[in-house]
Amino acid sequence: MDVIVSLCKRRGFIFQSSEIYGGTGSCWDYGPLGVELRNNIKRVWWRDFVHQRDDMVGLDASILMHPMVWKASGHLDHFTDPTSCGKKGTIGEARKFNLMFKTFMGPVEEDASVTYLRPETAQGIFVNFDNVLQSTRRKLPFGIAQIGKAFRNEITPGNFIFRSREFEQMEIEFFVNPHDRVDGRPADEAWHDRWIAECQAWFTRYGLAAEHVKLHEHARDELAHYAKRTVDLLYEFPMGWSELMGIANRTDFDLKQHAKFSGKSLTWFDEERKEHLVPFVIEPSAGVDRALLAFLLDAYREEEVRGEKRVVLRFHPELAPIKIAVLPLLKKRPEIVATCHDLRHRLTRRWLTLYDDTAAIGRLYRRQDEVGTPYCVTVDVKTVGDPEKGETGDGKVTIRERDTMQQIRVPIADLATVFARLLDAGTAWSEVATAYPRAEG
Ligand code: GAP
Repeated sequence: MDVIVSLCKRRGFIFQSSEIYGGTGSCWDYGPLGVELRNNIKRVWWRDFVHQRDDMVGLDASILMHPMVWKASGHLDHFTDPTSCGKKGTIGEARKFNLMFKTFMGPVEEDASVTYLRPETAQGIFVNFDNVLQSTRRKLPFGIAQIGKAFRNEITPGNFIFRSREFEQMEIEFFVNPHDRVDGRPADEAWHDRWIAECQAWFTRYGLAAEHVKLHEHARDELAHYAKRTVDLLYEFPMGWSELMGIANRTDFDLKQHAKFSGKSLTWFDEERKEHLVPFVIEPSAGVDRALLAFLLDAYREEEVRGEKRVVLRFHPELAPIKIAVLPLLKKRPEIVATCHDLRHRLTRRWLTLYDDTAAIGRLYRRQDEVGTPYCVTVDVKTVGDPEKGETGDGKVTIRERDTMQQIRVPIADLATVFARLLDAGTAWSEVATAYPRAEG
């Protein structure tokens, strides 16, 4: 973990919050590369689970909600950790400590204006269930997905971004008709298993090794107050197997509670059975930060290349913060630099592309390996020729692939097609590379 923490700081993935003031250990800031990686994780998750499904819609609810939400959800009464520490570090009596951050709405700090920063995004979905239903005319089963910040006054934050006080969640509340049968079983139970499999497949698809992920079935005494069954996806973090995400069967608990406390009916009309019913809910809930940490850890490799250590982040290309780096072999030659800038501008419209000329080519490659950039494009003397000698260039550049370090020589005119195959269509490097001559490494 120390190696990852130091790489994250050195290369601008993650910084400690308010570091110049000594830092706050439980909050983290995402730097220039971190914000790209984080956005890529969220974008891919949203694309796969919202846009590419017929049974899902999105939502973005506010962080501050009516305080009654937290009474109804049980967070005011149950979202506690026992603590035995009194003020100024003296040992006080064991007491229940609520993990929600309290604040005030409006200018007066009085009990009537107390509100909370949401400790999970889920409740924003439950209280909007009827709004979404009325505006989209959805039929069960369907889901509502949301990505957003959540806050918990954790007593023991730690392990870098694994447990912090401000974090982000990617949650789905998937509503099913409990009277239906799916795969010969009650719909909620069958959908629960489907979602467990979907989530596991998603994490391995984007880079986690299958042997680093396993399931953990909650025992009865581990279950949250709302859950009928919960299965966690565990990842083998450096501190041991720990929760990456949870997939819970929340039954009809939340909708019933909000109906009771708000006085509004939160039901769905079953046309077939001609009855109003309260759907059951399957909830896949993942932390963005925890997912990011797992992807970072799994991507990290130290290799030996020609007697030297090479550090490489083998990110899935969809997650890699930078997709392409355009590098000049000689920065003294204005034609080379101009061609690089032109390529960067054209490529970055579709794939985030960076230009770097602050070191010799070998060092530049290593730097890109270390931040997980899948492809480097190098412009050299042969590309542009030598106008003073009346030599024209061949208009070809070298593409270097991160994992194999293989290099091919490609006409500039082909670059858009080549990268569309590699980065959009997901065509394997080995397949694309066979069409072009190898360049010397
Ligand atoms: N709505 C259900 C829910 O919030 P949870 O197990 O408390 O369930 C879900 O949280 C996920 O959110 C966790 O699996 C984890 O990935 C992330 N998470 C929870 N607390 C966190 C924290 N303090 N720091 C970072 N991530 C956290």
